[in-house]
Amino acid sequence: MNFVAALNEAAAKNLRVLEEQIRQAISEDPFIFEACEPLIRGGKRLRPMLFVLCANAKADCPPEKTMPLATALELIHTASLVHDDIIDTSKKRRGVETANSKYGAQIAVLIGDWLFAKAFQLVAENDYGGAVQMTLSNLVKNLCIGEIRQDRSLFVVPTMSEYYTRINLKTAIFLSSCCKLGGIVANMTAREVANLTAYGSGLGLAFQIIDDLLDFFGDETVTGKPHGGDLKSGVITLPVIRALEVSGDADKLSELVTRGEVSSADIDAAIKIIRATDAVDYCRTRAEAHIDSARVNLPFTLKTSASLALEQIADFIVDRTR
Ligand code: FPP
Ligand code: MG
Repeated sequence: MNFVAALNEAAAKNLRVLEEQIRQAISEDPFIFEACEPLIRGGKRLRPMLFVLCANAKADCPPEKTMPLATALELIHTASLVHDDIIDTSKKRRGVETANSKYGAQIAVLIGDWLFAKAFQLVAENDYGGAVQMTLSNLVKNLCIGEIRQDRSLFVVPTMSEYYTRINLKTAIFLSSCCKLGGIVANMTAREVANLTAYGSGLGLAFQIIDDLLDFFGDETVTGKPHGGDLKSGVITLPVIRALEVSGDADKLSELVTRGEVSSADIDAAIKIIRATDAVDYCRTRAEAHIDSARVNLPFTLKTSASLALEQIADFIVDRTR
């Protein structure tokens, strides 16, 4: 299932407007458009649509109030992916060549910076106010710290608690901020905003756990990136952490993932060891538990159609293949 299928008619209309506004934002400069359009085309729009759905969840919120910020959220996300691909020296993202591979890291840094600046221009032009700006700056600071924590300990097995800290900083805070921003822009009560934030947080933790599983076991033609990318760049995630706890071949797996250089044969060997344990089921069970917690946090004051869409997005997160 694609999460777009979960959208009600009004939300689907908002998605079409969003697509147009994203295109318009990157059209400002011909080189930025050429560099970013293929990458942006392949996105799921999960972050901006979570924001839009939350903003419309109690009462209709006019598109003039939601669309600039929704566009900014997608641009911030894209900027972070462009920078992430430089850090990881990735060659493929969403099925297309990465900016760093196509133009070199120097130009790719500047492409990411441009997208980031454009996002904050949209926020400034539309007078979103201090609470929105604080939420955005906090989410970006956390994103950076999550990435720094990860990149300062490549090829080192994190504790379970460090893994969760990282995925919270790297992913869950972004998704929870999108939901929180929806509540803020729609002037919801502090309680409702807190509940939407908790919903987004559960969603985000589950999203990253599934992402980490897909990195090993996803279909490359669907995920748009090669298998084992995390291991290759030294990022050790939940499937490995779990397999190291329970596998009879833990010593071999540990040696493979911490040696500092990972070949394609090493990735295949690691996948074989992980598959022989309960790691895949374990990760899915953990992701489902976070989705359950997301669901119970949905405020009961929302429109039925909105609650339904937000619940279906939660299901999409665990069932997704890309
Ligand atoms: C993808 O995750 C990357 C991130 C979640 C965040 C990256 C953040 C930065 C590089 C900080 C810079 C931020 C800005 C706004 C300029 P992943 O590496 O787990 O997934 P992947 O397999 O899709 O690469
Ligand atoms: Mg990455």
